[in-house]
Amino acid sequence: MDRTQGRLSAAASASSGHPVLVHSFAQWREAARDLLAHHVPPQLMQWISHKNDGSLFAGAPPAQAADAAPPDGACALRVPRQLMDMLQSAACCRVPNRWAFLYLVLWRWQQGEKDVMSAADEDGARLHAMVKAVQREISGMHAAIRFRERREDAGPPRFVAWFEPGHDVLPQVARHFAARMGRVSWMIATPDASVMWDGERLHTTGPLMRGPQDIDDAGEAPWLTHYRSIFNPARLNADLLTSQVPTAAGKAQPGAVSSPTSLGQCRRCDLWQHATQAVGGEGPAQARIMLVGEQPGDQEDLRGKPFVGPAGQLLDRALHEAALDRRQVWITNAVKHFKWEPRGKRRLHKSPAQREIDACGYWLQRELAQVGPKVVVALGSTALKAVLDNPHATLKDMMGQPVAHGGRWVVTIYHPAYALRVPDAAARERAFHAMVEGLKQARELAQGPRP
Ligand code: URA
Repeated sequence: MDRTQGRLSAAASASSGHPVLVHSFAQWREAARDLLAHHVPPQLMQWISHKNDGSLFAGAPPAQAADAAPPDGACALRVPRQLMDMLQSAACCRVPNRWAFLYLVLWRWQQGEKDVMSAADEDGARLHAMVKAVQREISGMHAAIRFRERREDAGPPRFVAWFEPGHDVLPQVARHFAARMGRVSWMIATPDASVMWDGERLHTTGPLMRGPQDIDDAGEAPWLTHYRSIFNPARLNADLLTSQVPTAAGKAQPGAVSSPTSLGQCRRCDLWQHATQAVGGEGPAQARIMLVGEQPGDQEDLRGKPFVGPAGQLLDRALHEAALDRRQVWITNAVKHFKWEPRGKRRLHKSPAQREIDACGYWLQRELAQVGPKVVVALGSTALKAVLDNPHATLKDMMGQPVAHGGRWVVTIYHPAYALRVPDAAARERAFHAMVEGLKQARELAQGPRP
């Protein structure tokens, strides 16, 4: 009989004196339900598990209040969500006999000993300590992981990291990075398992590397061969090449990338590959003032809205001081996708290249035509270049001096991120004040005629 599968097999194993083989939380949960339904006490149980082969991570659906389908004559088991969450988290803790301990906790809870969930109880305290150790490991890993960027022409994965977790936290860590690194491909390798992200899905396998030295053995390294066999990395490129983009004639044309009709599908440059989403402008359809920033930052990329992070908060303050209401202005960026590089757990802003500003000019021009503002406020150098469509425009030449351009006024102010970054408090204050003055100027110009 397969002792790893089937609801009845755990109890059957126990009754015949065999240990129950478990190597994932989902398997343990299944076995534990079966054993509880058959009233098998913890002291009669022996649990064994494989050394982790990556399958610990597979098939563990989110814990939820659990109903066990009972065998004939047995009662259904309901376990509170909080306990199931704690058990699932503690299952990642590398301590001897973890499955036996988790079963003991569950058994005691089912026997009516509800304080087994409390840190005042001896087993409860151990359970809490295991959960805490796992959580600490997860946040430590978010900060500690260092992705190494591979050559752009080397194909996916674009980034590779090696780490040696103290507990089985790879899935949680992988989900964290999957949520934050957009469509860029990466792999995280550990001694026990590897996780790969192809820009859309996570794939878990057994170990592929012996250590960090294998990252550099990039040419035809065994791990890369394996990666390719799983991913067919050409797929992403193929998707791009065959994307059906409507043409002016209304016919779909494979490979055409120059005239996407929706910003969400924009492939005019490569930045979309690394971003979570394109961030368009927002505001009243006929706003008289349009603010143009550089590009979405980390928070904007995640939330899909412009200027909602720290720079946005400073901008809100400046608008307020200039007697402007954010809800009256159109707010957008010169570049619509977040450009960044990994730095530990952070995505560090990277300035867009001129070719990216140029590529995104298409979207800015569309916004200008649609909204038709009387005044455009360029926040910082990238915005200025984009608004004037002049890669040589400089802040120094334009600051404090509105110019007429394309039938509207252009006012140039510091980018709020600059005003946040200035190390000297007095200079910071001056930068903020200059921003406010520029915004007041914009407000006044918006009340007068077009140039
Ligand atoms: N910086 C920008 O330039 N734009 C944003 O939307 C956020 C930060």
